[in-house]
Amino acid sequence: TDAFTYDPGFTSTAACESAITFIDGDKGTLLHRGYPIGQLAAQSNFVEVCHLLLHGELPTAEQYEKFERSITMHTMLHAQFDRFFEGFRRDAHPMAIMVGTVGALSAFYHDSLDIHDARQREISAIRLIAKMPTIAARAYKYHIGQPFVSPRNDLNYAENFLRMCFAVPAEDYVVNPVMAKAMDRIFTLHADHEQNASTSTVRLAGSSGANPFACIAAGIACLWGPSHGGANEEALTMLKEIGTPDKIPEFIEGVKAKKYKLMGFGHRVYKNYDPRATVMKESADEVLAAVGDPNDPLFQVAKELERIALNDEYFIERKLFPNVDFYSGITLSAMGFPTSMFTVLFSLARTVGWIAQWQEMIGDPTQKIGRPRQLYTGPTERDYVPIQNRG
Ligand code: CMC
Repeated sequence: TDAFTYDPGFTSTAACESAITFIDGDKGTLLHRGYPIGQLAAQSNFVEVCHLLLHGELPTAEQYEKFERSITMHTMLHAQFDRFFEGFRRDAHPMAIMVGTVGALSAFYHDSLDIHDARQREISAIRLIAKMPTIAARAYKYHIGQPFVSPRNDLNYAENFLRMCFAVPAEDYVVNPVMAKAMDRIFTLHADHEQNASTSTVRLAGSSGANPFACIAAGIACLWGPSHGGANEEALTMLKEIGTPDKIPEFIEGVKAKKYKLMGFGHRVYKNYDPRATVMKESADEVLAAVGDPNDPLFQVAKELERIALNDEYFIERKLFPNVDFYSGITLSAMGFPTSMFTVLFSLARTVGWIAQWQEMIGDPTQKIGRPRQLYTGPTERDYVPIQNRG
């Protein structure tokens, strides 16, 4: 067994080759297919980024139109899907609904289960990207006890999603353009992040030949954890608990005493400012000015907390910087989303990254079933003792 390298948390193991996303954690660089995330967030849009991640290149105008149309053609859910939602308890966490319902898509699209058919894989990718907003909005409406709002395919991806979440049937709802832009950016910022825990989960599940819907459901389950996608929910809860800037020093002392972590800070790969956090902070500013309170006490606490932490030896020594989740919670909250929806939105956006990575893996002849080894620490071989002889 000594022949195996012990690498808990896979901090030094590359499990695949990938041409999708590049991160230089020391410099704080994030590139998708070579394009810096800052440029994509400022100049591109989520659907274009989906094309880039899936197909390797930014689309031409004609390709864009065709790609967007193929997404809008698949936004509806089968009518029988209602029963899945109705099976959940009224107060179910929307992430619990996501894990179950996305996995259940495999029960509807049998052709897609043939993962060796490239055309079917492509259709599954489109179906997932198209249906995630509908499922996520439906989980939200179910959670708050409102009737479901159907998708509107004349709206763009972010606008349609916001409308499905916030429109009340029979009432006019006009999507606020600042909200739509911020939503699209949040989706773009979360679209992919190379071999993080949930993406590795999707790859591992997919390595056995499991169908794409089941693999993405596995990714959603992994994302739910507070060390991963659940961190934005935790970060906002933390800011609320701190409450006012004068409580920050006391809170920081608790972090140093390792009583709790500073949520939204630190990253396995970034040992510098997370480039997504820079854009997220700008979006928080824009959204609060347009639909929230620019003097929102939580935003003040966040900015002050960041300032204090970035100047504190404890955080400098450990290279702890704000990550994407530090400001996303404040933004989403100002947009009207409850904290329970934060990770759902992350899963919606990350679906394209998961499916692009899954596609890449299926097309890579060097990939085998994922099968880590272990260093065994249990008893050596011993004989079975009948129950009456055990002392
Ligand atoms: N607050 C306080 N101390 C921290 C934090 C934090 N957020 N993160 C790491 N540390 C300390 C840690 O205690 C350790 O200290 P010491 O050397 O004294 O033992 C040192 O920094 C190194 O940390 P680590 O646990 O070895 O780092 P890791 O790479 O295993 O963990 C992480 C990465 C993201 C799980 C961790 O930083 C964390 O839990 N952060 C808070 C949760 C969070 O914001 N997660 C979102 C990540 S970005 C989006 C996503 O991936 O979903």
